[in-house]
Amino acid sequence: MKLYIDTANVAHIKEIAALGILSGVTTNPTLIAKEGRDFKTVIAEITELVDGPISGEVIALDAEGMVREGRDIAAIHPNLVVKIPMTPAGLQAVHVLSQENIKTNVTLVFSASQALFAAKAGATYVSPFIGRLDDAGQDGVQLVADIRMILDQYDLPTEIISASIRHPQHIAQSALAGAHIATIPYAVFQKAFKHPLTDQGIEAFLTDWKNVFGA
Ligand code: E4P
Repeated sequence: MKLYIDTANVAHIKEIAALGILSGVTTNPTLIAKEGRDFKTVIAEITELVDGPISGEVIALDAEGMVREGRDIAAIHPNLVVKIPMTPAGLQAVHVLSQENIKTNVTLVFSASQALFAAKAGATYVSPFIGRLDDAGQDGVQLVADIRMILDQYDLPTEIISASIRHPQHIAQSALAGAHIATIPYAVFQKAFKHPLTDQGIEAFLTDWKNVFGA
């Protein structure tokens, strides 16, 4: 399973990219707005930091507008993926853009049927929002497993981006459920690096070393 970071914060992207574990980046209008910076400038900076798929989302809600914005986003850099909400207009836009070989990521997916529709329309990626589903009392990880089974059963090339990840367990659970990619917020990366036994182990090794060999 590949790891993406779910943020538009360039400092955070730079930090995680330096670890050699990052394959891509996803953004959304909320994440871009949080940085308070120009969309194209931020996206262009991200392309300098990560050589992999970078999702930028359209704002338009009508198919024509989404296609227009999608072409603009795709023109920023060859690694750009156009993120499109899961609506009938969104599917129409995905269909048009996919025929132009523009990569798309269908976002706000909350059911296996929605994922199947997106895959049939030609989406490169589908993004089930597992945390938001859990919040609503449903099983987000199970949705990832269901989508994977459908994609495999019908030989559909669309890849699953497990999104709306809330805690470290979601990462391993997404991998076990067959997500091709997990897009992880910076704060969840920080938590997932850590384990109290790792910290205790480091401290004990250092103490034992110093007791015999000094500082
Ligand atoms: C996915 O691409 C979205 O940007 C993101 O994962 C949404 O997560 P949230 O539910 O934490 O906003």
